Amino acid sequence: MTTTASQEAFLRAFHAERPAVTAEAFGRGRAPDGRSSYEIVCDRVAGSRRVLDLGCGDGLLLEFLAQAEGRRLAGVDLSPHSLDLARRRTSLSGTRLVRGRAQELPFADDSFDACVSHMALMLMGDLEHVAAEVARVLTPGGVLSCVVGGGAVGGEAYERFLALLRSTIGKAPASKRIPVLGDRRARDREGLDEVLGPAGFTAADWQTVPIDLSGPVEQVWATVSGLYDLGPFDETVVEELREAFFTEVRDLTTSRGQVPCAFKIHLVTARLRQPPCSPAASPAARQGDDAVSSAPATD
Ligand SMILES: C[S@@+](CC[C@H](N)C(=O)[O-])C[C@H]1O[C@@H](n2cnc3c(N)ncnc32)[C@H](O)[C@@H]1O
Repeated sequence: MTTTASQEAFLRAFHAERPAVTAEAFGRGRAPDGRSSYEIVCDRVAGSRRVLDLGCGDGLLLEFLAQAEGRRLAGVDLSPHSLDLARRRTSLSGTRLVRGRAQELPFADDSFDACVSHMALMLMGDLEHVAAEVARVLTPGGVLSCVVGGGAVGGEAYERFLALLRSTIGKAPASKRIPVLGDRRARDREGLDEVLGPAGFTAADWQTVPIDLSGPVEQVWATVSGLYDLGPFDETVVEELREAFFTEVRDLTTSRGQVPCAFKIHLVTARLRQPPCSPAASPAARQGDDAVSSAPATD
Protein backbone atom coordinates (compact mmCIF):
# COMPACT_ATOMS: atom_id res chain seq x y z
CA MET A 1 0.00 0.00 0.00
CA THR A 2 1.33 3.48 -0.78
CA THR A 3 1.81 5.90 2.11
CA THR A 4 -1.22 7.97 1.17
CA ALA A 5 -3.35 4.85 0.75
CA SER A 6 -2.36 3.56 4.20
CA GLN A 7 -3.04 6.98 5.76
CA GLU A 8 -6.49 7.01 4.19
CA ALA A 9 -7.20 3.42 5.26
CA PHE A 10 -6.33 4.43 8.83
CA LEU A 11 -8.64 7.48 8.67
CA ARG A 12 -11.53 5.43 7.28
CA ALA A 13 -11.12 2.79 10.01
CA PHE A 14 -10.85 5.43 12.75
CA HIS A 15 -13.97 7.28 11.61
CA ALA A 16 -15.90 4.01 11.29
CA GLU A 17 -15.59 3.90 15.10
CA ARG A 18 -15.84 7.64 15.74
CA PRO A 19 -17.64 9.27 12.79
CA ALA A 20 -18.46 12.58 14.51
CA VAL A 21 -15.47 12.98 16.82
CA THR A 22 -14.32 16.40 15.53
CA ALA A 23 -17.73 18.02 15.55
CA GLU A 24 -18.40 16.70 19.07
CA ALA A 25 -15.24 18.42 20.32
CA PHE A 26 -15.03 21.58 18.21
CA GLY A 27 -18.75 22.19 17.93
CA ARG A 28 -18.71 23.50 21.49
CA GLY A 29 -15.35 25.29 21.22
CA ARG A 30 -15.45 29.08 21.21
CA ALA A 31 -13.13 31.75 19.85
CA PRO A 32 -12.70 34.96 21.91
CA ASP A 33 -15.58 36.55 19.92
CA GLY A 34 -17.96 33.71 20.90
CA ARG A 35 -18.08 31.98 17.52
CA SER A 36 -17.14 28.34 16.96
CA SER A 37 -14.39 27.54 14.44
CA TYR A 38 -17.16 26.22 12.13
CA GLU A 39 -18.95 29.58 12.24
CA ILE A 40 -15.70 31.45 11.61
CA VAL A 41 -14.93 29.58 8.39
CA CYS A 42 -18.58 29.76 7.33
CA ASP A 43 -18.49 33.56 7.69
CA ARG A 44 -15.37 33.70 5.48
CA VAL A 45 -17.41 32.55 2.47
CA ALA A 46 -20.56 34.52 3.28
CA GLY A 47 -21.01 35.83 -0.28
CA SER A 48 -20.45 32.52 -2.07
CA ARG A 49 -23.41 30.61 -3.50
CA ARG A 50 -21.89 27.29 -4.62
CA VAL A 51 -19.75 25.87 -1.80
CA LEU A 52 -17.82 22.61 -1.45
CA ASP A 53 -16.75 21.24 1.95
CA LEU A 54 -13.57 19.18 1.63
CA GLY A 55 -13.41 16.42 4.26
CA CYS A 56 -16.91 17.34 5.45
CA GLY A 57 -17.13 14.58 8.08
CA ASP A 58 -20.58 14.43 9.69
CA GLY A 59 -21.66 17.69 8.03
CA LEU A 60 -21.65 20.24 10.87
CA LEU A 61 -19.95 22.94 8.77
CA LEU A 62 -22.37 22.27 5.90
CA GLU A 63 -25.24 22.74 8.34
CA PHE A 64 -23.97 26.25 9.16
CA LEU A 65 -23.49 26.98 5.46
CA ALA A 66 -27.05 25.78 4.71
CA GLN A 67 -28.47 28.56 6.89
CA ALA A 68 -27.94 31.03 4.01
CA GLU A 69 -30.77 30.99 1.46
CA GLY A 70 -30.26 29.75 -2.09
CA ARG A 71 -26.93 28.04 -1.63
CA ARG A 72 -25.84 24.99 -3.61
CA LEU A 73 -23.75 22.83 -1.32
CA ALA A 74 -21.64 19.72 -1.67
CA GLY A 75 -19.46 17.73 0.70
CA VAL A 76 -16.84 15.12 0.01
CA ASP A 77 -15.27 12.73 2.51
CA LEU A 78 -13.37 9.44 2.65
CA SER A 79 -15.53 8.08 5.45
CA PRO A 80 -18.87 6.45 4.58
CA HIS A 81 -19.75 6.38 8.29
CA SER A 82 -19.30 10.14 8.71
CA LEU A 83 -21.25 10.77 5.50
CA ASP A 84 -24.12 8.62 6.82
CA LEU A 85 -24.40 11.01 9.77
CA ALA A 86 -24.28 14.03 7.46
CA ARG A 87 -27.15 12.55 5.41
CA ARG A 88 -29.30 12.38 8.56
CA ARG A 89 -29.21 16.18 8.93
CA THR A 90 -32.51 17.41 7.52
CA SER A 91 -30.99 20.78 6.59
CA LEU A 92 -28.67 18.90 4.19
CA SER A 93 -31.40 17.11 2.23
CA GLY A 94 -30.49 19.13 -0.88
CA THR A 95 -26.72 18.81 -0.41
CA ARG A 96 -24.62 16.50 -2.60
CA LEU A 97 -22.72 14.32 -0.13
CA VAL A 98 -20.19 12.23 -1.94
CA ARG A 99 -17.74 9.58 -0.81
CA GLY A 100 -14.45 10.44 -2.44
CA ARG A 101 -10.92 11.76 -2.19
CA ALA A 102 -9.91 15.41 -2.21
CA GLN A 103 -7.14 14.37 -4.60
CA GLU A 104 -9.69 13.21 -7.22
CA LEU A 105 -12.74 15.38 -6.79
CA PRO A 106 -15.88 13.97 -8.42
CA PHE A 107 -17.06 17.38 -9.69
CA ALA A 108 -16.86 19.22 -13.02
CA ASP A 109 -14.51 22.16 -13.63
CA ASP A 110 -15.70 25.58 -12.35
CA SER A 111 -18.44 24.01 -10.19
CA PHE A 112 -17.95 26.11 -7.03
CA ASP A 113 -17.47 29.71 -5.90
CA ALA A 114 -15.82 28.62 -2.65
CA CYS A 115 -14.23 25.60 -1.09
CA VAL A 116 -14.07 25.25 2.70
CA SER A 117 -12.41 22.69 4.90
CA HIS A 118 -12.43 22.33 8.69
CA MET A 119 -9.60 20.36 10.33
CA ALA A 120 -9.12 18.13 7.28
CA LEU A 121 -6.58 19.70 4.89
CA MET A 122 -3.66 18.93 7.20
CA LEU A 123 -4.55 15.22 7.10
CA MET A 124 -4.35 14.93 3.33
CA GLY A 125 -1.45 13.39 1.47
CA ASP A 126 -0.52 14.29 -2.12
CA LEU A 127 -1.23 17.92 -1.25
CA GLU A 128 -0.25 19.16 -4.73
CA HIS A 129 -3.05 17.02 -6.18
CA VAL A 130 -5.51 18.41 -3.63
CA ALA A 131 -4.52 22.00 -4.54
CA ALA A 132 -4.79 21.26 -8.28
CA GLU A 133 -8.20 19.63 -7.84
CA VAL A 134 -9.56 22.48 -5.72
CA ALA A 135 -8.29 24.96 -8.35
CA ARG A 136 -9.97 22.94 -11.10
CA VAL A 137 -13.42 22.81 -9.45
CA LEU A 138 -13.33 26.45 -8.28
CA THR A 139 -14.35 29.24 -10.57
CA PRO A 140 -11.62 31.86 -11.26
CA GLY A 141 -11.64 34.32 -8.36
CA GLY A 142 -13.12 31.60 -6.11
CA VAL A 143 -12.13 31.33 -2.45
CA LEU A 144 -10.45 28.53 -0.52
CA SER A 145 -10.96 28.92 3.23
CA CYS A 146 -9.66 26.31 5.65
CA VAL A 147 -9.21 25.72 9.35
CA VAL A 148 -6.05 23.77 10.16
CA GLY A 149 -4.88 22.70 13.60
CA GLY A 150 -2.27 24.82 15.34
CA GLY A 151 -1.59 22.83 18.55
CA ALA A 152 -1.82 23.67 22.24
CA VAL A 153 -2.08 27.23 23.54
CA GLY A 154 0.09 26.33 26.55
CA GLY A 155 -0.41 26.29 30.30
CA GLU A 156 -3.68 24.37 30.01
CA ALA A 157 -5.03 20.82 29.89
CA TYR A 158 -4.36 20.09 26.22
CA GLU A 159 -0.66 20.81 26.64
CA ARG A 160 -0.53 18.50 29.67
CA PHE A 161 -2.45 15.82 27.80
CA LEU A 162 0.05 15.96 24.91
CA ALA A 163 2.97 15.42 27.32
CA LEU A 164 1.22 12.34 28.78
CA LEU A 165 0.37 11.08 25.30
CA ARG A 166 3.98 11.44 24.10
CA SER A 167 5.16 9.36 27.02
CA THR A 168 2.48 6.67 26.34
CA ILE A 169 3.40 6.54 22.65
CA GLY A 170 7.09 6.36 23.58
CA LYS A 171 6.45 3.18 25.60
CA ALA A 172 4.10 1.59 23.03
CA PRO A 173 5.22 -1.00 20.44
CA ALA A 174 5.49 0.22 16.83
CA SER A 175 2.27 -1.66 15.96
CA LYS A 176 0.32 0.77 18.18
CA ARG A 177 1.58 3.90 16.45
CA ILE A 178 -0.50 5.58 13.80
CA PRO A 179 0.88 6.42 10.35
CA VAL A 180 2.18 9.96 9.87
CA LEU A 181 -0.90 11.75 8.59
CA GLY A 182 -0.99 14.37 5.87
CA ASP A 183 1.61 16.88 4.82
CA ARG A 184 3.29 19.19 7.35
CA ARG A 185 3.23 22.04 4.82
CA ALA A 186 -0.53 22.38 5.36
CA ARG A 187 0.16 23.66 8.90
CA ASP A 188 2.67 26.28 7.86
CA ARG A 189 2.18 29.55 6.00
CA GLU A 190 5.24 29.28 3.73
CA GLY A 191 4.66 25.56 3.17
CA LEU A 192 1.07 26.03 2.09
CA ASP A 193 1.92 28.95 -0.19
CA GLU A 194 4.51 26.70 -1.81
CA VAL A 195 1.72 24.23 -2.64
CA LEU A 196 -1.13 26.63 -3.44
CA GLY A 197 0.88 29.15 -5.51
CA PRO A 198 1.67 26.81 -8.45
CA ALA A 199 -1.98 25.68 -8.49
CA GLY A 200 -2.99 29.30 -9.18
CA PHE A 201 -3.85 30.69 -5.73
CA THR A 202 -2.85 34.02 -4.22
CA ALA A 203 -0.64 33.99 -1.11
CA ALA A 204 -2.81 32.79 1.77
CA ASP A 205 -4.06 35.08 4.51
CA TRP A 206 -3.31 33.46 7.92
CA GLN A 207 -5.04 34.21 11.16
CA THR A 208 -4.33 32.26 14.34
CA VAL A 209 -7.23 32.02 16.77
CA PRO A 210 -7.37 30.31 20.19
CA ILE A 211 -10.39 28.07 20.66
CA ASP A 212 -11.58 27.63 24.22
CA LEU A 213 -12.53 24.02 24.97
CA SER A 214 -12.67 24.34 28.77
CA GLY A 215 -15.25 22.44 30.76
CA PRO A 216 -15.73 19.79 33.43
CA VAL A 217 -12.91 17.25 33.43
CA GLU A 218 -15.00 14.48 31.80
CA GLN A 219 -15.89 16.78 28.94
CA VAL A 220 -12.29 17.93 28.46
CA TRP A 221 -11.16 14.30 28.51
CA ALA A 222 -13.74 13.47 25.82
CA THR A 223 -12.25 16.27 23.70
CA VAL A 224 -8.57 15.44 24.07
CA SER A 225 -9.05 11.68 23.85
CA GLY A 226 -10.57 12.11 20.39
CA LEU A 227 -7.09 12.45 18.90
CA TYR A 228 -6.21 9.95 16.18
CA ASP A 229 -3.15 8.76 18.15
CA LEU A 230 -5.37 6.99 20.71
CA GLY A 231 -7.10 4.92 18.00
CA PRO A 232 -4.82 1.83 18.16
CA PHE A 233 -4.44 1.72 21.98
CA ASP A 234 -6.09 -1.04 24.01
CA GLU A 235 -8.79 -0.06 26.49
CA THR A 236 -6.48 -0.61 29.45
CA VAL A 237 -3.88 1.80 28.04
CA VAL A 238 -6.56 4.42 27.38
CA GLU A 239 -7.89 3.96 30.92
CA GLU A 240 -4.38 4.45 32.37
CA LEU A 241 -3.97 7.60 30.27
CA ARG A 242 -7.35 8.85 31.45
CA GLU A 243 -6.44 8.34 35.10
CA ALA A 244 -3.09 10.05 34.62
CA PHE A 245 -4.85 12.96 32.87
CA PHE A 246 -7.38 13.42 35.68
CA THR A 247 -4.51 13.55 38.20
CA GLU A 248 -2.45 15.87 36.02
CA VAL A 249 -5.16 18.52 35.62
CA ARG A 250 -6.35 18.51 39.25
CA ASP A 251 -4.31 21.61 40.15
CA LEU A 252 -5.65 23.46 37.08
CA THR A 253 -9.31 22.89 37.98
CA THR A 254 -11.14 26.01 39.10
CA SER A 255 -13.36 26.21 42.19
CA ARG A 256 -16.34 25.87 39.80
CA GLY A 257 -15.01 22.56 38.47
CA GLN A 258 -13.79 23.91 35.13
CA VAL A 259 -10.60 22.61 33.54
CA PRO A 260 -9.00 25.20 31.26
CA CYS A 261 -8.34 23.73 27.83
CA ALA A 262 -7.56 25.50 24.56
CA PHE A 263 -6.36 24.74 21.08
CA LYS A 264 -5.02 27.05 18.39
CA ILE A 265 -6.47 27.01 14.91
CA HIS A 266 -5.09 28.67 11.81
CA LEU A 267 -7.71 30.18 9.56
CA VAL A 268 -6.27 30.18 6.05
CA THR A 269 -7.88 31.94 3.11
CA ALA A 270 -6.59 32.16 -0.46
CA ARG A 271 -8.21 33.16 -3.72
CA LEU A 272 -7.88 31.50 -7.10
CA ARG A 273 -6.32 34.03 -9.47
CA GLN A 274 -8.31 35.20 -12.48
CA PRO A 275 -6.63 34.18 -15.72
CA PRO A 276 -5.05 37.20 -17.49
CA CYS A 277 -7.50 38.65 -20.02
CA SER A 278 -6.59 37.96 -23.65
CA PRO A 279 -6.55 41.17 -25.75
CA ALA A 280 -9.45 39.86 -27.90
CA ALA A 281 -11.62 39.27 -24.82
CA SER A 282 -10.70 42.41 -22.86
CA PRO A 283 -13.40 45.07 -22.34
CA ALA A 284 -11.29 47.66 -24.17
CA ALA A 285 -10.97 45.42 -27.24
CA ARG A 286 -14.72 44.71 -27.19
CA GLN A 287 -15.59 48.45 -27.01
CA GLY A 288 -13.98 49.06 -30.42
CA ASP A 289 -12.29 52.21 -31.76
CA ASP A 290 -13.68 54.63 -29.17
CA ALA A 291 -12.07 52.79 -26.30
CA VAL A 292 -8.75 54.08 -24.99
CA SER A 293 -6.20 51.53 -26.03
CA SER A 294 -3.42 50.45 -23.74
CA ALA A 295 -1.70 48.71 -26.66
CA PRO A 296 1.52 50.22 -28.09
CA ALA A 297 0.87 52.96 -30.66
CA THR A 298 2.54 50.95 -33.43
CA ASP A 299 0.11 48.03 -32.97
C1 LIG B 1 -10.70 15.63 11.66
S1 LIG B 1 -12.00 15.13 10.61
C2 LIG B 1 -12.90 16.66 10.34
C3 LIG B 1 -14.32 16.44 9.87
C4 LIG B 1 -15.13 17.73 9.66
N1 LIG B 1 -14.54 18.58 8.65
C5 LIG B 1 -15.24 18.48 10.97
O1 LIG B 1 -14.41 19.37 11.21
O2 LIG B 1 -16.14 18.18 11.76
C6 LIG B 1 -11.16 14.99 9.04
C7 LIG B 1 -12.04 14.48 7.94
O3 LIG B 1 -11.34 14.60 6.70
C8 LIG B 1 -11.59 13.43 5.95
N2 LIG B 1 -10.48 13.28 5.01
C9 LIG B 1 -9.17 13.16 5.30
N3 LIG B 1 -8.44 13.04 4.19
C10 LIG B 1 -9.30 13.11 3.15
C11 LIG B 1 -9.17 13.07 1.73
N4 LIG B 1 -7.98 12.91 1.17
N5 LIG B 1 -10.26 13.21 0.98
C12 LIG B 1 -11.49 13.35 1.54
N6 LIG B 1 -11.69 13.39 2.88
C13 LIG B 1 -10.61 13.28 3.67
C14 LIG B 1 -11.68 12.33 6.99
O4 LIG B 1 -12.35 11.19 6.51
C15 LIG B 1 -12.43 13.04 8.11
O5 LIG B 1 -13.82 12.91 8.00
